[in-house]
Parts: sequence; C-alpha cells; structure tokens
Amino acid sequence: MKSFIYSIPKAELHIHIEGTLEPELMFEIAQRNDIKLPYNSVESARKAYNFQNLQSFLDIYYAGASALLYEQDFYDLTWAYLQRAANQNVRHVEIFFDPQTHTQRGVSFETVFNSIHQALQDGHQHLGISSKLILCFLRHLSAEAAMETLQQAKPFQDRIVAVGLDSSELGNPPSKFKEVFDKARSEGFLSIAHAGEEGPPEYIWEAIDLLKVSRIDHGVRCIEDPQLVQYLVDKQIPLTVCPLSNVKLRVFNSIAEHNLKQLIDLGLCATVNSDDPAYFGGYIAENIAVAQAGLNLSQDDIYKLVKNSFQASFLSAAEKQNFITDLDRFMAQVS
Ligand code: ADE
Ligand code: ZN
Repeated sequence: MKSFIYSIPKAELHIHIEGTLEPELMFEIAQRNDIKLPYNSVESARKAYNFQNLQSFLDIYYAGASALLYEQDFYDLTWAYLQRAANQNVRHVEIFFDPQTHTQRGVSFETVFNSIHQALQDGHQHLGISSKLILCFLRHLSAEAAMETLQQAKPFQDRIVAVGLDSSELGNPPSKFKEVFDKARSEGFLSIAHAGEEGPPEYIWEAIDLLKVSRIDHGVRCIEDPQLVQYLVDKQIPLTVCPLSNVKLRVFNSIAEHNLKQLIDLGLCATVNSDDPAYFGGYIAENIAVAQAGLNLSQDDIYKLVKNSFQASFLSAAEKQNFITDLDRFMAQVS
C-alpha cells in the first residue's frame, strides 16, 4: 500500500509555497540574509511546531517567511518543493503564494513572482511537473490592501490562473472580499477560497454565492449543513482536504476522527493535499498514507482521490484526460 501511495500519479491543489520552507533551508537562507530567526537551531524550530489552532500556526509561519528576501530565496524554496513533489510522483501542482506576506516587508511583487515562476518553469523542463500559480489574498488584512495587490498582479496576469483567500478565517468572512473577487473575475481570474476550515458552513456558502469559487480549500465543516453537502455533491464543487494540517491545527482531534472517508462516501469531489508540509509533518504522499491508515481507505478510495485531483485542477479538459489516462494505465499495471 505504501509504495502504491507514493508511486500513484497525482496532482496537488492546495500547497502554500511559504509553507514548504523546511527549517534547514530557513536557517540557510536566514544566515545568508543576516536575518535573526526566533529559534537557535533547526531542532528548536521543529519543537516549536506545536499548534493550538490556525492562528498559533500562522504566527510561526509568517515568522519563518521573514527570512525570504531575494529572488534566489524564492527560487530555492520552490525548487526544493518541486524535487520533493517529483519524488512522490506529483505530475501537476497548483501553487499558492501570498504576495502580501512579502510586499509588507518591502520585497517587491516582481521579485516574489519571477523567482517562483522561474522555478516552476525549470520544474516542468527538468522534472516533468506541470504547474499553475494562484495568488492568495491575506484575509486578516483589509479589502483595500487586497485590491492593491490585485493591481500589482496585473503585469503577470497571463501567468496567474486564479485568486484565492487564506490566513485567519474566523472574523474574516468571504463577504469582506466580494468587490475584490468581482474585479478579479471580471479581469479573467478564476477564484478559490479557504472556507470551512475553522469557519462555519456559512462561510462556504459565501465563498460559493459571493466569490463564485471553482473549488473550496478545506471545506471540511460542510458536513454540519446537509443542504450544503447536497449542493457540493450536485455541483461537484471540489474540496481540497489537508488531513495532517487539520490534525495539527486541531480541526479534528485525531486522524481517526477526520471526516475524509465520509466525504468520499457521500460523493463529494474530495482531494488530498499537504497545505504547509514543512510545518505539519508531511507532503502529499504522507498525507494520503496517514489518512489511509487512520481511516482504513481502500485502493479504490485512493484512486478516487487522485482522479479527483486531476478533475478538480485548472487544466484543460484534454490535459485532464491525458493525466487520467496515465493514471488508469498505472492502475492496470498494479492490479
Ligand atoms: N495559510 C497557510 N496555511 C493556511 C491554512 N491552513 N489556512 C489558512 N491560511 C493559511
Ligand atoms: Zn491552506
């Protein structure tokens, strides 16, 4: 089962590039940039990764991202992630980046964007991983700040497929960003949003009704609203579920209590993703493996999850079909 999970071709649709910053690379980059980190060793950083909720994680995540200043830093970060992804047979990735985390510190949008994009192009050429970029707005900041960020993205628009919404969910409902998302969609961006991670099902409804999202990041709290579940099933609106994240941030007490299996059995288009793997203890294959063991998932469940990952992507219908044909070829070989 383990080798099946690692080698099955898959797509990753919910990964914050800043959340892939492993402590080793964080220290290396901080040292060359002369940045002081709030830890004195890699081990003490890892020890500090013990979270009570989303906010307690975000505080540490933004502190880690403060080491990133120059193009080389963002390139190294993205390249390190792509190498790990290639080792787990990730064939396609849709990467989130948080420009405001960096522009607030005086790093230009262009520095962040160009370096991540260059690494993705190299990932395609040298590792065979196809990719798309998604710009996430920080929802704890104002709608005006998000609008300004959208403006900064204009010169790069042809290389950004969608806008998203992340950071502190409670108290920052999707409705706060309706105008920004209206503008982004009118300019041709697709949209997604974190909703129903810590926030209530109403936030998922708002993401659908007001932000017109193509998929929901997390969304696990949909289960509290049967009408919402029915809607998500009927419309096949995908959920990008992140099992290890949900346990580390105490959305569920343990993996055995996670509702992923229930979501699959209800007919939702669920996918498995890693969110912030450097902080939560595993990349996509570890997420699938932990969920498989904790929830007793079958090979067929895993096939469904990875097939959903290609279906739920922003690839064209023909590209999706090519990946799914490869996936079915893989399944025929292992059965
Ligand atoms: N930013 C990075 N990871 C996040 C998560 N799991 N939820 C909200 N914002 C995030
Ligand atoms: Zn996330």
